[in-house]
Amino acid sequence: MLITKPQSSTMMHLKNKVALVTGASRGIGRAMARRFADEGADLVICARHREALLEVARDIETQGRRVIAQVADVGDRHDVHRLVETALETFHRIDVLVNNASILGPRVELVEYPYEEWERVLRINLTGTFLITQAVARHMMERKQGSIINVSSGVGVEGRPRWGAYSVSKFGVEALTQIWSQELRPHHIRVNVVNPGRVRTAMRRAAYPDEDPNTLPRPEEILDVFVYLASDESRAITGRRFQAQEFEWPETEQREEWH
Ligand SMILES: NC(=O)c1ccc[n+]([C@@H]2O[C@H](COP(=O)([O-])OP(=O)(O)OC[C@H]3O[C@@H](n4cnc5c(N)ncnc54)[C@H](OP(=O)(O)O)[C@@H]3O)[C@@H](O)[C@H]2O)c1
Repeated sequence: MLITKPQSSTMMHLKNKVALVTGASRGIGRAMARRFADEGADLVICARHREALLEVARDIETQGRRVIAQVADVGDRHDVHRLVETALETFHRIDVLVNNASILGPRVELVEYPYEEWERVLRINLTGTFLITQAVARHMMERKQGSIINVSSGVGVEGRPRWGAYSVSKFGVEALTQIWSQELRPHHIRVNVVNPGRVRTAMRRAAYPDEDPNTLPRPEEILDVFVYLASDESRAITGRRFQAQEFEWPETEQREEWH
């Protein structure tokens, strides 16, 4: 039997964990960083623009957690290297990685898709996910533990017109999840992927400018699955795909054992 378990901040599912969340300056990543802090985690957060990121860092400090906020482009391997190095120098470990950062790119048909945009979207969304996962996985392998959560999309499993490089990049993220989950399983590192569904953020607004945002859930409302996958509650779960808005927290006795 499955139950929906409203997650109160007093549960502290992520106590003593260090979580790296990319793209945490707004939208789903920002809400996730704050929620993870509420759940007891220390945070490493990044985005390309400083001011909004620092605001999130201040929130997390107010929540009583430690935080590193670093300006970094996940599609730049030097930035990624510096980010992971700083995180390890400060916290000495990364328990959870959430590959959340991404850009939408132009909503045009492939026949019109500008080459530079194609390259930029794939570099950030796909190569960025590869780069940071590789850097963090090398560290997690030494500790023989860790949880990696990739963020995909409905168009990561179904191609639709005018989703171009974004859709292709998310198909790639789904493939990375399948490959990494099998390669890292012997090292007791879990890799799963989440489709957030439609969420009230700047990216959604850019994709659907005519939509009434009030009809969409706020980022804060779709986060239980991320807490679950980051926590030890999901310690045997790897290589799985989750729909954030359909997620129900499993009962304790339903948990699978790692084998
Ligand atoms: N919202 C939805 O309805 C929806 C639906 C399906 C999937 N998703 C996925 O959910 C995730 C979060 O989306 P969102 O709606 O919250 O997007 P958003 O509001 O546009 O936020 C994206 C975040 O990523 C950061 N970012 C973008 N490019 C980056 C880069 N190169 N390096 C580091 N950080 C970068 C942005 O900050 P900077 O601009 O400062 O870098 C921002 O903090 C994405 O993976 C998206 O594809 C969203």
